[in-house]
Amino acid sequence: MQEQGMFISFEGPEGAGKTSVLRAILERLAPKLQDRLLITREPGGHDNAIAERIRDVVLDPAYIDMMDPWTEALLYAASRRQHVEGTIKPALATGKVVITDRYVDSSIAYQGAGRGLGTDKIAAVNDFAIQGLYPNRTIYLDLDPQVGLDRIMQNRQNEINRLDLDGIDFHRRVSAAYHELATAQSDRFVMIDASQPLAKVIDDVWLVLVDLLNLDTSED
Ligand code: TYD
Repeated sequence: MQEQGMFISFEGPEGAGKTSVLRAILERLAPKLQDRLLITREPGGHDNAIAERIRDVVLDPAYIDMMDPWTEALLYAASRRQHVEGTIKPALATGKVVITDRYVDSSIAYQGAGRGLGTDKIAAVNDFAIQGLYPNRTIYLDLDPQVGLDRIMQNRQNEINRLDLDGIDFHRRVSAAYHELATAQSDRFVMIDASQPLAKVIDDVWLVLVDLLNLDTSED
């Protein structure tokens, strides 16, 4: 019998520490899962040339005032479609654990609520892209949007992309939409308090993964 794949997404507002948490988690996971682990991200995708090209366009600060919000939403969905078909599905079919840094909930929160295009409409557009392929678990790093933006501004060596430059009201709408999704789909979402010290956030996420993936931690 073929091993079952597992699909996990990480979501969160700007400044929640998603990148640092993921880096630490992957260091712990890699030796346990070895080539069963596939790490990827959106917009774009591991080894996915087309999706990565779309990422370059959609995140380019040079287009900040030029890009129509629906063009942006459709580009995210198009890049996601390529990511699903070219990267995620093939990996899951061979029993891999696929961890993606952002997925469909980002579009619902950022384009649907943040840009005000409508969460239902964005979910419907994304149905074309994902064809029902929702993650088994979505780990949401929860942080007050103002705290997140303050962290980014204090830490200027971080890449500041076009969405970081939007106002606080935008990020409040994003956060509220994530909370609604987490409440509506509480079986899929796991909320982690990202206002805690980084080491504690990492430990909390780790415990979720140990349980979900049935990891043997007896020698840790
Ligand atoms: P990235 O540089 O990967 O930063 P982060 O660490 O915040 O994930 O930029 C991704 C940005 O793209 C982020 O601001 C959220 C945004 N985004 C959307 O607006 N919609 C989407 O569907 C996705 C996947 C990302």
